[in-house]
Amino acid sequence: MTVSPPLARLRDATRPAHHRLDSHPLLAALSDGPPTPEAYRRALAHLHLALAPLEARLLAPGATRPAGFMLLPRAGDLAADVIASGGGLLAAPTTPDAALATALDHLDAHLEGGGLAAWLGAAYVVEGARLGGRTIARALAARDPALAVAASRFFASPGLDVGRRWTHFGQVVGQHLADDVAFATARDAALATFEVFLAGLATGTALPDGGA
Ligand code: HEM
Repeated sequence: MTVSPPLARLRDATRPAHHRLDSHPLLAALSDGPPTPEAYRRALAHLHLALAPLEARLLAPGATRPAGFMLLPRAGDLAADVIASGGGLLAAPTTPDAALATALDHLDAHLEGGGLAAWLGAAYVVEGARLGGRTIARALAARDPALAVAASRFFASPGLDVGRRWTHFGQVVGQHLADDVAFATARDAALATFEVFLAGLATGTALPDGGA
């Protein structure tokens, strides 16, 4: 996989944030030993809580998006995996000071002021999640084939060449984030996006109807 310098810089700048995320107990449960179905569906439901509003922002009609790269929404696959794993969706907290709402507000400030560079920084996190997702999907398939067949569309990205897609995304990032100001804008949006995922893991209540 060829890595463009701005993409590598984004990885270096966000490494601690990624580590906080992948070592969070809800996600670490997916890679440290066989996840129980309950642990798996809880992790999916919390990820959905973050991914759905993130995608809504990145795919909003007014968002400044790059030509030549299309973000493919996955929140629908993730919701389907939650249901197929036997779980229910979670309700986002509605109080204004809730961690998830605050993290989304911070991200909005970056997206509103940062144009294409901020969009690319946030998309870097959302799209990059496919890379670790493949590892999780493979581990799940080895440990719990039935659950993997039923409920790993989000992690497995079936039908996509994830490596090629990442290389292409890196080229787009390379075109737009070569200068330091654009890079810093993207980095800050990427960090704010990781915070949204972390906040999603920390919050959420079960919907009364199971979310189905
Ligand atoms: C929603 C949660 C997650 C997000 C947003 C996320 C984000 C990212 C990003 C942005 C990258 C690209 C790094 C680069 O620039 O090369 C990445 C790669 C990676 N992530 Fe995650 N990640 C998530 C969860 C996880 C989990 C739970 C694991 C498992 C321990 C994991 C393991 C990995 C691995 C192994 C790679 C490198 C894969 C490769 O190079 O092919 N990630 N992730």
